[in-house]
Amino acid sequence: MNEKIKKKNILHSGMFNGTLRGWQSLKSGLTAENLMYPVFIIEGDNDVQDIPSMPGVARYGINKLQEHLTGLIAKGLTSILVFGVVDSLPKDDFGTHADSKNNPVIKALPKLRQWFPNLTIACDVCLCPYTSHGHCGILTEKGIINNSASIARIGEIALAYAKAGAHIVAPSDMMDGRIGAIKSRLIESQLQNSVAVLSYTCKFSSIFYGPFRDAAKSKPAFGDRKCYQLPTGSEGIALRAAQRDVEEGADFLMVKPIMAYVDILKQVKNKYPEYPMFVYQVSGEYSMIYQAAEKGIFDLKAGLIEILSSYRRAGADVIITYYTPHLLEWISLKNKL
Ligand code: PBG
Repeated sequence: MNEKIKKKNILHSGMFNGTLRGWQSLKSGLTAENLMYPVFIIEGDNDVQDIPSMPGVARYGINKLQEHLTGLIAKGLTSILVFGVVDSLPKDDFGTHADSKNNPVIKALPKLRQWFPNLTIACDVCLCPYTSHGHCGILTEKGIINNSASIARIGEIALAYAKAGAHIVAPSDMMDGRIGAIKSRLIESQLQNSVAVLSYTCKFSSIFYGPFRDAAKSKPAFGDRKCYQLPTGSEGIALRAAQRDVEEGADFLMVKPIMAYVDILKQVKNKYPEYPMFVYQVSGEYSMIYQAAEKGIFDLKAGLIEILSSYRRAGADVIITYYTPHLLEWISLKNKL
């Protein structure tokens, strides 16, 4: 052996079999508990609608969702993130149907709680699927965000979901002060101990949300979301957003999208190691990987494991992904990926 090689530089002695390699990568393993599955709920109870821009993902009426989730829970599914999508309920400036009694999420929650008592249910809280203008807040007459009116309304919607049975409310609107507004509403109703707040903390303005806006029918009618979502190249403001949400009482933090923002995940996790970190592999990331695998550029399972390992390594505790059904299938065969 070359005399110059120091003994501690012989890396191969620590990784010559699968168990040893596993010990070198414990932080990046994936179990069912590391996954949260996003689902779209529509008004027609027995309907299923494919989403052309997200092959393999569908919107479900509540009865169809019951069938779909039953199979996944048998494979270990522990949590979902619910989005409502409306067709016939009218949209208006105030997002009236975000929390009306006919809202598909409000109607679904008691049933989901009853059918699946061990399933943890998070609800996305936002106005964009329910406003006529498609923005995530309430607008002034001049068409700009009215922050105080927006967070008052977001607080009200979060409270309605909490009362209907959500375990977690997850505001994705990005208005300043929304976490504090939601926490105050939960405390007033003495729900602070039974409902957690998952903040979409570092939510960047992103091209990768495109397919979701088809899925949730939530495209802005004019303008874009750049003045309330974080600028792509930014870093300091993302860390300040994390600090703001922590100070306002968020229980869980999130980075979204993730593929282009793993550095932000690592920084936020290093700054707040005591907070569980969520990352959202968003619609465009899902579809991009799907297309690559479909074209034979790489194997879906191997590609996903490599990509998701990097998120775990950088500090992600929970990965919100439309690939949850695929991952559970593989995990259920082996218990772990
Ligand atoms: C709503 C919301 C969006 C996503 C989650 N909640 C879209 C947006 O902000 O435009 C994106 C999720 C995805 O792309 O999968 N505010």
